[in-house]
Amino acid sequence: MSEAPIAIVGTGIAGLSAAHALHAAGQPVQLFDKSRGLGGRMTSKRSETGHLDLGTQYFTSRDRRFTETVRHWQTQGWVAEWSPNLYQAREGLLSPSADEQLRWVGVPRMSAIATGLLGDLPIKLSCRITDVFRGEENWTLVDAEGNNHGPFSQVIIATPAPQASTLLASAPKLAAVAASVAMEPTWSVALGFAKPLETKVEACFVQDDALDWLARHRSKPGRDDLQDVWVLHASSAWSRQHLDMSRESVIEHLHGAFAELIDCVVPAPEFTLAHRWLYARPSQSHEWTALADAHLGLYACGDWCLSGRVEGAWLSGQEAARRLLEQR
Ligand code: FAD
Ligand code: NAI
Repeated sequence: MSEAPIAIVGTGIAGLSAAHALHAAGQPVQLFDKSRGLGGRMTSKRSETGHLDLGTQYFTSRDRRFTETVRHWQTQGWVAEWSPNLYQAREGLLSPSADEQLRWVGVPRMSAIATGLLGDLPIKLSCRITDVFRGEENWTLVDAEGNNHGPFSQVIIATPAPQASTLLASAPKLAAVAASVAMEPTWSVALGFAKPLETKVEACFVQDDALDWLARHRSKPGRDDLQDVWVLHASSAWSRQHLDMSRESVIEHLHGAFAELIDCVVPAPEFTLAHRWLYARPSQSHEWTALADAHLGLYACGDWCLSGRVEGAWLSGQEAARRLLEQR
């Protein structure tokens, strides 16, 4: 393999985990993302009421290496523990549901982890990669505007599976594995109230028709919301059934479900926002950790290679980097 840089497509936690590991091993990397910001599903959206976590709400760590890494992030000031007043709701009944689970959030917003991991690494944002092809020795990437990027010695695809399958076309076996993964959507809604709602609830796991989760955003450490903002997530089933519903209707429906569930009066919100995550989570877990065609120098990672959680995505990125380094 030549010593040209390694291209990484996707700057969610998986791509950044791989980039960080490769950089630490002294390898040059170049990152690409189609979005204007980095972090993927772990990003935070800027809004008139502050930065909001509309995707990842928190994360847990069970793997020893990830636990050590999160502790390191804590010393860097990128993450803090979040211990909300936790509730659950079943069949419309709300009840306290405290537990001992350690839950982490990025501070002052979820995207702090991505920003910290990126450091000074080179990145091209707003750059959608549409084709990844190999010449005699090296790889070239083509973006949606028709520009070529390269040469690269190896390529890591760190996008959700449906987007990865086309980019993995040079390695049909890897492309087929990615194509076999179904991913479920999630509608996410933020509601802001000028006067704080009179409830003790700060987060709630919901088993309901429409809702799956709700959280009081300012209960997380370091948040500076101007209003009392609540983030609501619809269930996968509801999101799938209402994939093409207008944002206004989604907000109206989830606001209604929230008002019915929560134990206080819910006025009309002063601020609303809706975001549709088309590829929110894989419909099942896998045990691939990462995919590799070491001979070609093409790799794939992402939460869909393990569990559809932050920890799984991070571990997958580590494994892609490890397997790539074996070939350098
Ligand atoms: P992503 O974060 O999706 O990153 C992929 C990146 O690839 C994106 O930035 C995308 O823009 C980019 N990309 C895609 N195609 C291209 C292309 N062609 N060219 C260039 N760039 C491209 N996990 C938890 O552990 N706890 C939670 O509480 C939790 N809540 C969640 C709530 C929601 C609503 C959602 C959507 C997810 C949640 N998750 C949660 C899951 C968690 O966010 C993901 O498991 C994790 O962030 C996935 O990281 P990733 O790097 O694999 O993918
Ligand atoms: P976790 O251990 O806190 O939660 C796992 C699951 O256990 C929860 O979904 C919930 O059903 C249940 N649970 C945990 N604590 C509970 C309590 N005190 N009371 C009642 N039920 C409780 O976190 P883990 O395993 O790291 O999971 C990550 C979270 O991310 C999950 O809640 C998952 O649903 C969510 N997620 C959401 C996605 C989306 O698109 N909406 C995508 C991926 C993950």
